[in-house]
Amino acid sequence: MKQHDIQIDKDGELRHFLTIEGLKKPMLTGILDHAENFSSVSNRQVKKVPLLRGKTIANLFFEASTRTRTTFELAAKRLSADVINININTSATTKGESLLDMLQNLESMQVDMFVVRHNSSGAAHFIAQHVAPHISVINAGDGSHAHPTQAMLDMFTIRRHKQEFTKLTVAIVGDIMHSRVARSQIHALNTLGVPEIRVIGPQTIIPKEAAHLGVHVYHDMHQGLQNVDVVIMLRLQRERMEGALLPSEHEYFHMYGLTEEKLKLAKADAIVMHPGPINRGVEIESSVADGPQSVILEQVTHGISVRMAVMSMALGRSSLTDGQERGQS
Ligand code: CP
Repeated sequence: MKQHDIQIDKDGELRHFLTIEGLKKPMLTGILDHAENFSSVSNRQVKKVPLLRGKTIANLFFEASTRTRTTFELAAKRLSADVINININTSATTKGESLLDMLQNLESMQVDMFVVRHNSSGAAHFIAQHVAPHISVINAGDGSHAHPTQAMLDMFTIRRHKQEFTKLTVAIVGDIMHSRVARSQIHALNTLGVPEIRVIGPQTIIPKEAAHLGVHVYHDMHQGLQNVDVVIMLRLQRERMEGALLPSEHEYFHMYGLTEEKLKLAKADAIVMHPGPINRGVEIESSVADGPQSVILEQVTHGISVRMAVMSMALGRSSLTDGQERGQS
């Protein structure tokens, strides 16, 4: 079964969120609109709405994370859900328990949602195929395959600054081959109608099939950055690279690092994005990461409202008005 088939229930609503691929534009726009409604919650004195009161969400992070794990936890708490963070390193999986046995045990504790990060591509989909029918699974990043909530918070950030997707030129720079973020971003940008998506990087870390994804490939940063509206920088995913795909980091920075000088090739009002973690002096100059065109920390903030939107939609409680009507805002 294709991943997008199991993401949507018989009423056309989101059940799992595993990949952007295959989701239709109204679903993506719906997530962005819901997130827009939730964004004010984080600025209130009491940062909570009761939408997911009584629901239990388990964070299963088999791979390191700062931003994604924390913002999923904050998002769940701001929706009034109970959150458990399973520490994989101290869980019984270290005593040989299988992933599925672990999940069945958590299911018997009446968990309603699993948020899963795993270094194997397809892990979240595998889990979604095996959970009980009432449980939702959200992919928080699987191998080099997909990171759908990251892509949606990136789309949210772009929409906040640029409004119309259909007039934009977006450049994604760096390690496209190993990046689950880039793959998800490309699907989202295409679905939302961005007419020109460029990927820029050395031949060794741009996948051969990139052109089939509806993007233009550049190996020269000076050409690729000309007149773009959005520059998305990516980290070199050394942990996923096999063999020597790159020259030294110094040489990589010289050719593909985003400096103030190179940023001048983009439009004067271009925004600079990065999913994090950033490696200063490798893919981005500090003065650009911290500069006036950078929206990198804003992306992190938007991660909370986008994850609130996805979690509440998957658990069938997406209306903020309903929650307010129940008396707590
Ligand atoms: N962008 C992102 O996924 O960051 P973390 O690895 O810190 O979650």
